[in-house]
Amino acid sequence: MSRHSLRMRLVVAVMLLLATVCTVVGIATAVALRHFMIQQLDTDLSSAGGRFVAMQDHGGPGPGPGYSGNFLGPAQAPRTIGVTVVGGTVTGAEMTDRGGVVRDVPADARTALAAVPTDGHPHSVDLGPLGTYRVLASVDREGTVLVVGLPQADVDHLTVLLVAAEGIVIVLALTGAGIVGAIAVRRELRPLEQVAETAGRVSALRLDSGEVDLSERVPAEHTDPRTEVGQVGAALNRMLDNVSTALDARHASEVRLRRFVADASHELRTPLAAIRGYAELTARDRALPPEAAHSLSRITSQAERMTTLVEDLLLLARLDAGRPLERAPVDLSRLVVDAVSDAGAAGPGHRFRLDLPDEPVVVVGDAARLTQVVTNLLANARTHTPPGTEVVVGLTPVPTVGSAGCASGRLTVTDTGPGVPPELNVFERFARGDGSRSRIHGSTGLGLAIVQAVVEAHGGRVHLDSRPGRTVFTVELPGVSPEPDTRPLPLLALQE
Ligand SMILES: Nc1ncnc2c1ncn2[C@@H]1O[C@H](COP(=O)(O)OP(=O)(O)O)[C@@H](O)[C@H]1O
Ligand SMILES: [Mg+2]
Repeated sequence: MSRHSLRMRLVVAVMLLLATVCTVVGIATAVALRHFMIQQLDTDLSSAGGRFVAMQDHGGPGPGPGYSGNFLGPAQAPRTIGVTVVGGTVTGAEMTDRGGVVRDVPADARTALAAVPTDGHPHSVDLGPLGTYRVLASVDREGTVLVVGLPQADVDHLTVLLVAAEGIVIVLALTGAGIVGAIAVRRELRPLEQVAETAGRVSALRLDSGEVDLSERVPAEHTDPRTEVGQVGAALNRMLDNVSTALDARHASEVRLRRFVADASHELRTPLAAIRGYAELTARDRALPPEAAHSLSRITSQAERMTTLVEDLLLLARLDAGRPLERAPVDLSRLVVDAVSDAGAAGPGHRFRLDLPDEPVVVVGDAARLTQVVTNLLANARTHTPPGTEVVVGLTPVPTVGSAGCASGRLTVTDTGPGVPPELNVFERFARGDGSRSRIHGSTGLGLAIVQAVVEAHGGRVHLDSRPGRTVFTVELPGVSPEPDTRPLPLLALQE
């Protein structure tokens, strides 16, 4: 493939073609013209020769204008040369001048003329300083060779002039054709650029999630199937139709699935509450045999676990659906203090430490969801580490330019526990470390997925850095409110 643009290649191809055609026509013209002129010269030559022969036969001057010498014969054109040769020796030589004056023929020229074959055909002979001559030799009855010559200079001169004129015309024509061709090709290819622009705009769209408005199309005037560009435009439009339909179908099925998960979670809440309630009620019966009491406590704890799972699923489904978040200033410092105090009460075997700046760190967001982020991180630091582990919760304000008084905040939860298994992508849904499934009560594998979903809905980022003895979860929240969510909402008509 060439590196040059189609426009450039088209223009160059046309120019090359044009140059070839012009050159061929020019050469053919020059050759033909020269051929005709030589023919004309040969006709003149044979009549000049006739007069020369007649003069040699009869002797004496003939009538007529111009030269009227008694060697060459009458009415000879200027610069005509006549030579008589007998037995290889030049016996007479004469040449006319412009004014009809007779001049001598130089010795070199005589020798060259004497050597012309007497075959009855004209020959072109170079006579040195006299230039090229058209020469005809014939033999008379007495065996004298009569050679007559006419200058070929005019023919040569005209041929050169013609070729020069043709060259100039060809160069001018090619320049003009190049300019006009470049403009024409540019105009013809402009629709192709518009097709490319459409494709470019589509490629800049985000098609990976949510409802996609793929309304970009090639304008109708560039979709005429009778033109090549129109075929490209029409094909692109058909492709966009197809992609748009597929994206709509995908979106619809995503929405259906989310609604199903959300509805299912919501529906499960009521029977779960009933199970817990009845289990508690039955447990009050003091006459219960010990095995039954044990079973009841297992029922209660499993129902509680399922409740957590269902709540987590519901929350995730709502975050997926792009439920709008509250956007209010949230005092992260306060939130962290409360969460750590709760965690300390829940996990007395762990040492919790706060590392807060003097000034409160305020971000814009949804306080309830942010609380859940901190709670989930602290619960992990408590449940996935052995007792005695130290957990440090740090908070740093990160000033951002133009944040209108709200600094962005960085929250870190660091523990000295065994660390996260390296092969585990902990932010994936239902991702749980070895043994967590059976060992730890209340482990759903959704905690960090929720953390990530909430933080990203706030326009922030969450990051994990873990090795044995030091596990750090870092949450960065922007101080300024992120772009308002423009996705169509609400997808889920759910009541609390
Ligand atoms: N602080 C931590 N130390 C060690 N492992 C952790 C820590 N936090 C999370 N993990 C690992 O990441 C997994 C996923 O965590 P999470 O999404 O909160 O699910 P869950 O806590 O319900 O198991 C956990 O099962 C655990 O193996
Ligand atoms: Mg967890």
